[in-house]
Amino acid sequence: MKVNREYLNLKKSYLFSEIAKRVSEFEEKHPEAKIIRLGIGDVTLPLVPEVIDSMHRAVDDMSKKETFKGYPPEHGQDFLVEKIEKFDYKDRGLDISKDEIFVSDGAKSDTGNILDIFDKDNIVAVCDPIYPVYVDTNIMAGRDGQIIYLETSQENGFSPNLPNRKVDIIYLCSPNNPTGTTMDRNTLKKFVDYANEYDSILLFDSAYEAFITDDNLPKSIYEIPGAKNCAIEFRSFSKTAGFTGVRCGYTVVPKDLKRDSISLNELWARRQATKFNGVSYVTQRAAEAVYSEKGRKQVEENINYYLNNAKTIAKGLESIGIKYYGAENSPYIWFKVPEKFDSWSFFDYLLENANIVGTPGVGFGKMGEGYFRLTGFSDADSTKEAVDRIKKLSF
Ligand code: MLT
Repeated sequence: MKVNREYLNLKKSYLFSEIAKRVSEFEEKHPEAKIIRLGIGDVTLPLVPEVIDSMHRAVDDMSKKETFKGYPPEHGQDFLVEKIEKFDYKDRGLDISKDEIFVSDGAKSDTGNILDIFDKDNIVAVCDPIYPVYVDTNIMAGRDGQIIYLETSQENGFSPNLPNRKVDIIYLCSPNNPTGTTMDRNTLKKFVDYANEYDSILLFDSAYEAFITDDNLPKSIYEIPGAKNCAIEFRSFSKTAGFTGVRCGYTVVPKDLKRDSISLNELWARRQATKFNGVSYVTQRAAEAVYSEKGRKQVEENINYYLNNAKTIAKGLESIGIKYYGAENSPYIWFKVPEKFDSWSFFDYLLENANIVGTPGVGFGKMGEGYFRLTGFSDADSTKEAVDRIKKLSF
């Protein structure tokens, strides 16, 4: 019997598990500390009323023989897929149809699971710094030596350049986790053209698209001509509608997308049919309610609340001379730590001296060393309090 030894090539623990461990150790030693959590990007506002009402109705449906639902359809319930098709694509002039949309339990699992349909020998490019799931899942799949890093830094405004060699799979995340920066149309166009020229696949994670307030910025990769021939898009209700604990997202695999003359849409459908049993009826009714007129308004209010928090943090940092990225079109604020620290020593310093939890930039890759991430996902009062505490620190 042999285990998958590729797992031994991973970092010892997942970034957010390591942070949780350090924070609970600190709490044990300092039970009196009033900790403010601006670390993991987890939402804090409750689900909006429209979503809750819809969930209640769905629970009632499950209680009656006539409306009870068993296994959900493989691609997702029609009532939800139709809303996604209309509101996220057709109404925005994008030609994505129902059979290209696959409802799932979230973007984290799908960005990892999608690797099932690609050969192990592929060369993969990821930005550095980046969401650790892209790197870890490729290492698990045996591609440890086949990952190319597209380094981003203050010098290129945390916007990746094209790979300087041929790669097969490229992950892009915009608005970006962790840097909070967004990719404009021209930059995305370069990646789409590159992918079509070299037969590569773009894996476009737009889990944070709901935070884009600037109309000039693309929310979907399919706004870029040619993307349907080279891109898979991942979306999530987690940050959009506060579903981090409910679990729902979707992945778009266009029917035009082929490699080796094989339809990736068919491969993904086959993979999901075998390994995934769909999202619960109650959850899909909850997601559907996000698209109702009231639902959209309520969700937008929550997004604005988090964006305001992000701005509060950004202004606070600015007032003490710290340059930041993100906070606009993104819930994340990314900044360079004061000179005498590295990412983890700043994490410890902030936890011990201000009882604030953030995320060390180096956890997102070596280019993140010396940087730090805070989120706008806390509540407004705690966010203001955190900013006051940071202002009182002496660096
Ligand atoms: C983060 O803090 O980077 C996110 O919450 C991680 C995630 O969405 O899985």
